[in-house]
Amino acid sequence: MIIVKIGGSVFSDKKGDPENFDVETVRRIAKEIAGFYPAEDFIIVHGGGSFGHPEAKRYGIREGLPEGWENAHRKRIGFTLTHQAMLRANAKFIEAFVAENLPAFSVSTSSIFITENGDVAYGDVEVIQRLVDLRFIPVLFGDVSIDLAKGIEILSGDQIITYLAKMLEPKKVIFLMDVDGIYDGKPGEGKLIQNLRLDEIDGLFERLSCIASGTDVTGGICNKLREAKKIACFSEVWFVNGKVPGRLSGAIRGDGFGTVLRE
Ligand code: IPE
Repeated sequence: MIIVKIGGSVFSDKKGDPENFDVETVRRIAKEIAGFYPAEDFIIVHGGGSFGHPEAKRYGIREGLPEGWENAHRKRIGFTLTHQAMLRANAKFIEAFVAENLPAFSVSTSSIFITENGDVAYGDVEVIQRLVDLRFIPVLFGDVSIDLAKGIEILSGDQIITYLAKMLEPKKVIFLMDVDGIYDGKPGEGKLIQNLRLDEIDGLFERLSCIASGTDVTGGICNKLREAKKIACFSEVWFVNGKVPGRLSGAIRGDGFGTVLRE
């Protein structure tokens, strides 16, 4: 089994129009997966991109559910609208995968996961496992979540992947990004690290200034690395450029260009 995370910046321009979707890239990603299916099982998790993020921000979903009817009511509406935006992105993924003759099946993240401060506290992977056993390709997504500490939260695709990796022990987890992999500095400035060992990650956190409080000065890469560190105990982790044709196939085969993290 291989789990693939399709980052928001791979399938959409986060700074562009609301809900823009790069259907060509997604069709090409689906085509690459079709080259290995059904010999290989896949689970797909996609991010929010220009779908979930603007709504989540507008309604301050990460602040949780406040006291007081009026404020809480506005947040509930925002919670629903953020989820609907993600459902629209998800529908486009399913359409693109089915067009490549892949039995992609939508699984709503917020229906099977409960978080505590954004980390998965409870997850029901039974449906996912059975879908895979029946040769479907489950497609999950970063989503809103019911949160034990804050009432409501955002559950990022990267957090979902960590939980799935722990429960399902895939042989490989592949993060598709809009850069070539993990750099030892800012992309473009630092050097691409092609082989990363688990015991080198803490040093890298320091070089990238990922401080313990979780402030991401280099975008989402610190969170990704933090999650990857947990995943690497169960599976090989690849970071490759999802915008470049062939890179995903290379990571699936195991001879690709990007960063591979091994224990
Ligand atoms: C975010 O998911 C989901 C919402 C904002 C609702 P991710 O954190 O996985 O999304 P990307 O990959 O950064 O866009």
